[in-house]
Amino acid sequence: MRQLIPRTSRDAEPDLAAVYAYPGHARRWMRANMVASVDGAAQADGKSGGLSGSADKRVMSVLRALADVIVVGASTVRVEGYDKPPSPPRPQFAALRAEAGQTEVASYAVVSASLDLDFDSPRYTEARIPTITITVADAPTDRLAAARAAGEVIIAGEGRVDMALALDTIAGSGRGRLLCEGGPHLLSAIAHASYLDELCLTLSPQLRGGEAFRLLEGVKLDPAVPVTLHTLLVEEGFLFARYLTAPEQQPQQ
Ligand SMILES: NC(=O)c1ccc[n+]([C@@H]2O[C@H](COP(=O)([O-])OP(=O)(O)OC[C@H]3O[C@@H](n4cnc5c(N)ncnc54)[C@H](OP(=O)(O)O)[C@@H]3O)[C@@H](O)[C@H]2O)c1
Repeated sequence: MRQLIPRTSRDAEPDLAAVYAYPGHARRWMRANMVASVDGAAQADGKSGGLSGSADKRVMSVLRALADVIVVGASTVRVEGYDKPPSPPRPQFAALRAEAGQTEVASYAVVSASLDLDFDSPRYTEARIPTITITVADAPTDRLAAARAAGEVIIAGEGRVDMALALDTIAGSGRGRLLCEGGPHLLSAIAHASYLDELCLTLSPQLRGGEAFRLLEGVKLDPAVPVTLHTLLVEEGFLFARYLTAPEQQPQQ
């Protein structure tokens, strides 16, 4: 992998944990990590796996290792295998996490109004840190009871999850390094709440055409949210761009 932006005299492989370090000053920082084809598809045959590659998986695992909480939408959980047994802690990040006062792995937070989730899946039953369910006050009562039995529950709003309230609640409990792994409807809700600080976008070297979700789906952002390119890495035709919505809050490098 090579770092193209910011330019560096070092030819060495970039230290991804340093490149993607969360800004130390932020009480709450919401980073999203998404992949898209060159023609803007965020899905390949209904999933994101066909867009990914080995370098993308490497970046994704570093981003997970740096986060306090990984936030995902319910559809992504349902189609992307998030119900599988959670990955064990990665020893190479143990010291970094301990030094940052973090638990040995990030916890997962699933956003759902319907609570049509499998609370008996390993994501809940084998989680090292209880999985968080972010939902609404008027969620089905029996499903809410199942969510409570399976882990931590955050109620934020009615009808639709109030993402600002939900993310403030998590950050307010000292878990401010947030990572959203999609999908496009959840990312749109976070952007609408003006809580998206950073988008880590992997541009996959392929054209797909046809129907597919874009990175953000749902109501138009009006006005558009300007973003600033902070970092650009490349490996085997994959581009790894890091965009900031508030460049004055630049993370250090
Ligand atoms: N390219 C990528 O990087 C990437 C990343 C992730 C996913 N994907 C793909 O995206 C597709 C899924 O897209 P999606 O947009 O439907 O996924 P999503 O955002 O993960 O899930 C949408 C669901 O999340 C819940 N949700 C999201 N925002 C909510 C809010 N404000 N309040 C209440 N509930 C909320 C709802 O769940 P309930 O229906 O349970 O109420 C909603 O139906 C899949 O094909 C997946 O493979 C791509």
